[in-house]
Amino acid sequence: MASSDLSGPAAERPGGVRLTGVSHRYGRGGDAVTAVGPLDLTVPPGEFLVLVGASGCGKSTLLRLIAGFERPTHGTVQVSGAAPRPGQGAGVVFQQPRLFPWRTVEGNVDVALRYAGVPRQEWPEQRAALLERVGLQGVGRRRIWEVSGGQQQRVAIARALAAENPLFLLDEPFAA
Ligand SMILES: Nc1ncnc2c1ncn2[C@@H]1O[C@H](COP(=O)(O)OP(=O)(O)OP(=O)(O)O)[C@@H](O)[C@H]1O
Ligand SMILES: [Mg+2]
Repeated sequence: MASSDLSGPAAERPGGVRLTGVSHRYGRGGDAVTAVGPLDLTVPPGEFLVLVGASGCGKSTLLRLIAGFERPTHGTVQVSGAAPRPGQGAGVVFQQPRLFPWRTVEGNVDVALRYAGVPRQEWPEQRAALLERVGLQGVGRRRIWEVSGGQQQRVAIARALAAENPLFLLDEPFAA
């Protein structure tokens, strides 16, 4: 057995994803839509997986299932070896940026730093590093409506990177 296998199957390690017999349906009866599955999927930690498919084929639903925002109609979803909990264990970039429009770019990143438990005295340094990482140095003081759509998406990426997560779920983060 390889040494990397000693801590158990790869998908159960931090950042690993395992879907077993997963399907997800919205609505009931004649209006029901099967958005995902049935699907088995194993993603080991550190792997970069891209989902490609037509509009409406279920990509966002699958990401929401893995993020724990939806519970599957059938089957089980495991992240890092356990049922996913919303807002924990994965950095998420939504298809719509979902920022706080009344806050500045910096203010939006600060919310994520606070949520990640970063001590307040470390915010200026970490905020600057995050904004530089996504190429937003210089627009930190602007309100969200004063930056472009692509810049808003990059604020959302910076927010997702604020916490040290073993898994990132990005829903069309480069659409703009
Ligand atoms: N909350 C919901 N209630 C009912 N149906 C939904 C809901 N969300 C999505 N759907 C339906 O589920 C299917 C999959 O939607 P989903 O958003 O996962 O697709 P997608 O692949 O992300 O599409 P796009 O590329 O347009 O973002 C679609 O038929 C959609 O209309
Ligand atoms: Mg989508």
